[in-house]
Amino acid sequence: MKITKICCLGAGYVGGPTMAVIAQKCPHIQVTVVDLNEERILEWNDEDTNNIPIYEPGLSQIVGESRGRNLFFSTEVDKAIDEAQIIFISVNTPTKTYGKGKGMAADLKHIELCARQIAKVAKDDKIVVEKSTLPVRTAEAIKSILDSTGNGLKFQILSNPEFLAEGSAIQDLLNPDRILIGGDTSAEGEKAIQALVDIYRNWVSPEKILTTNVWSSELSKLTANAFLAQRISSINAMSELCEKTGADVNEVAKAIGMDSRIGSKFLRASVGFGGSCFQKDILNLVYISKSYGLNEVADYWEQVIIMNDHQKRRFSDNMLKTLYNTAANKKIAFLGWAFKKDTNDTRESAAIYVADDLINEKAKIVVYDPKVSRKKILADLDYLETRTSEENENSVITFDNPYLSCEKAHAIAILTEWDEFVQYDWQRIYDNMEKPAFVFDGRNILNKVELESIGFRYQGIGQ
Ligand code: NAD
Ligand code: UDX
Repeated sequence: MKITKICCLGAGYVGGPTMAVIAQKCPHIQVTVVDLNEERILEWNDEDTNNIPIYEPGLSQIVGESRGRNLFFSTEVDKAIDEAQIIFISVNTPTKTYGKGKGMAADLKHIELCARQIAKVAKDDKIVVEKSTLPVRTAEAIKSILDSTGNGLKFQILSNPEFLAEGSAIQDLLNPDRILIGGDTSAEGEKAIQALVDIYRNWVSPEKILTTNVWSSELSKLTANAFLAQRISSINAMSELCEKTGADVNEVAKAIGMDSRIGSKFLRASVGFGGSCFQKDILNLVYISKSYGLNEVADYWEQVIIMNDHQKRRFSDNMLKTLYNTAANKKIAFLGWAFKKDTNDTRESAAIYVADDLINEKAKIVVYDPKVSRKKILADLDYLETRTSEENENSVITFDNPYLSCEKAHAIAILTEWDEFVQYDWQRIYDNMEKPAFVFDGRNILNKVELESIGFRYQGIGQ
């Protein structure tokens, strides 16, 4: 089957970058990305590609290159579905906030809406690709909806989970560790798998393209995220023990990472992992395990989240304790609000929870993040519903200059590992702070010896 037109439902952190890279690498394919959110589509179509809604290194250039040629952003969902041979579903699948499975299960309402929309609009056979992260066996539900119309059309459902990490999305998409495609084992299933393999073959070598059955593919995505998050909770657990024993978690991480069976990546102790994926996907895994009666499996994975919550809380508790058990009316400068560097995404960022704890202690939080707006910071705090919007507004000050943010501060907390923080003139910052001047480095990016020689009281994680 020669593929010339594809579309993607959902122009978010996954749909946008993924489709932009496919469009760049496959100039012979027309790629349309659609979303119900008009504002988001308007931003994707902004004349100045620096104003696209997602900040990712390299993304605006790639969009600039392909947009209007073979890459289109639109709100015309039906038209895009009608024209496409392959439809990617890349909508959000957040943790449910209501009903059965509240706080645990993945909310599949957007996925189901997409399936119903495709069923309603399609006039010819389609390949439907799950790009969103989904509970194992979701393809069954999608197929059941698509097959229920009685119009005789044939749909093939593939699972093609996305492994990109934010902040390095473009590099991850251009040089993936692997592409995973799960599909039906029938002849039609094989044909659909091949059609998708052929798209990736435009830039990915064949040995990196792995095909499996649908359920293995769906479950592999949840498994990968669970393993990655577990490494962080494991090193964070050791960081607490390091603080009690005089060991240094950076040295421990290096020592164990040199064991090739363990490997050195993803062992950075921190204030706790954030992002839209790890917590949501592990909670989902816990929920699925419980639903099969696998309580030990569920408890095992839930511990990763419990440890992460503990790490975030431990950070704010420690700040309070060090600040002589009172933060009331003290100015605390936050460097960073995003959940990691090189992204404007703040979903589940540890900064939100640390700020919330400190505002409860009546601290004034002054935030500087190179890519996150005041509006977003306040929305993140409001979402917790700890206090009124007005109270949040009065508790948070924002500047677009780091030196101003730190002026007259009693303490600085590093919440995101932005490279620029390391380059700052720390002497200048020290000179303008209240004394004693504390630095709580939630990312272990600053040089303890250097900061202490300036006069700072420095505390990292696990040191
Ligand atoms: P997102 O919230 O940034 O984007 C989802 C978009 O889908 C939104 O713009 C929303 O308006 C749109 N949408 C919702 N329902 C729609 C519908 N019926 N039709 C058209 N558009 C619709 O989410 P995201 O971060 O891009 O994540 C999408 C999926 O990919 C999730 O399942 C997530 O778990 C998974 N994932 C995310 C990442 C990541 O780093 N963000 C990485 C891998 C996988
Ligand atoms: C993650 C997965 O890495 C990616 O494969 C998947 O597709 C989506 O979920 P993402 O959440 O975008 O990607 O970023 P990631 O680099 O995994 O970082 C997640 C969180 O863990 C961040 O808050 C980061 O700061 C933190 N982290 C990461 C650590 O605290 N220590 C580490 O060693 C690595």
